[in-house]
Amino acid sequence: MNILILGGGGREHALAWAVMQNPKCDRLIVAPGNAGIAQIAECPRLDILDGEAVAGFCAENAVDLVIIGPEAPLAAGMADQLRAAGLSVFGPSGAAARLETSKSFTKAICAACGAPTAGYARFTEAEAAKAHVRDKGCPIVVKADGLAAGKGVIVAMDEDTALAAIDDMFLGEFGAAGAEVVIEEFMTGEEASFFVLCDGNTALPVGTAQDHKRAFDGDEGPNTGGMGAYSPAPVLTDALVQKTMDEIVQPTIAEMARRGTPYQGVLYVGLMIEDGQPRLVEYNVRFGDPECQVLMMRLGAQALDLMQACAEGRLHETQVNWAEDHAMTVVMAATGYPGSYEKGSVIKGLDNLPEDSMSMVFHAGTTERDGRIIASGGRVLNVTARGATLGEARDRAYAMIGRIDWPEGFNRGDIGWRALD
Ligand code: AMP
Ligand code: GLY
Repeated sequence: MNILILGGGGREHALAWAVMQNPKCDRLIVAPGNAGIAQIAECPRLDILDGEAVAGFCAENAVDLVIIGPEAPLAAGMADQLRAAGLSVFGPSGAAARLETSKSFTKAICAACGAPTAGYARFTEAEAAKAHVRDKGCPIVVKADGLAAGKGVIVAMDEDTALAAIDDMFLGEFGAAGAEVVIEEFMTGEEASFFVLCDGNTALPVGTAQDHKRAFDGDEGPNTGGMGAYSPAPVLTDALVQKTMDEIVQPTIAEMARRGTPYQGVLYVGLMIEDGQPRLVEYNVRFGDPECQVLMMRLGAQALDLMQACAEGRLHETQVNWAEDHAMTVVMAATGYPGSYEKGSVIKGLDNLPEDSMSMVFHAGTTERDGRIIASGGRVLNVTARGATLGEARDRAYAMIGRIDWPEGFNRGDIGWRALD
């Protein structure tokens, strides 16, 4: 098979690494890719938001399967355009991607199918939104309806913060994403992420993970895209996974199919769990980054068979073969991230690190210059390891970090603390 993966972060490096191990994979192409991905795949220049360009590339290169990594091309309808061109695609249609691109859409789906989630109200002007906040009291959660690069959610512990967030959103801080604002009840509990492949009819769980969103140890500092993750998430017991499938995932998929917009791809289910009850925090329509890195480390080559079956509507024929293992990824980021940071520093020490089914450094934001690896993003490396226990995976990952020579970078030292305590 010739396989094209769209994207160029740590998630796509992990996807490429897993796919490449499957003997079915003949030619592996990742666009735009990065310096780490270029070590295992062809990385052509291709505008991954341009459906015609991607479809043309697929025709010229006899691509058999396209795997879409990030949300932006999905939101832009890339999967629709490629399917219309006759391609086999892993990723939801633009209409189904609304589960990520519109928070009020997701809330309406939950209401229609009875999936447990935070109570909410939606507003298109500030005064009514503010009156609602004054009425409900704090803590309360203010969300820009649309995609806001992970920044459109304000968990307001006091009224001033909530009112200021409402003003910011309606004054356009998040652009069109903030033209509508969703205000939610604040949920307490433990957060976990659950990943399910869906082919429109069948839903197949492919793993659980927990992410660390704050920049610094002890869950301090600003919110980031994720500073590390581990899988499985101990809070998501088998019983809770079943409950989540029964009460949240299956009803959602049935509702999407009923509306004529069946969901096909990976559904990232963000959950809040309290007293044995899962509630939906959010859906994303792609693998999490860095959660994907730990899922791929655990799934290995079968990830390709699963994604292919998903794209072809054959998930009912498949099953996941689980090992009793654990994986952890630790993000190394450029100093200053998620604020402003320098690009262009040189990363040394990567050549001598193990690259096998237990240990991998996935590249998130790197480029190659004159044979050297250069940091070119905020999140730069995802140092990932597997082990019989989470402790073993952690020790292996942090041992690799100790051998990476990159003074301009930083990482959290406590990834997995909640599960390791
Ligand atoms: P989201 O972009 O929807 O994932 O929100 C980002 C983060 O905000 C989540 O991971 C939660 O930690 C927090 N959050 C979102 N909605 C709620 C809620 N209703 N109650 C409590 N925390 C929330
Ligand atoms: N790690 C969080 C996300 O991918 O949205």
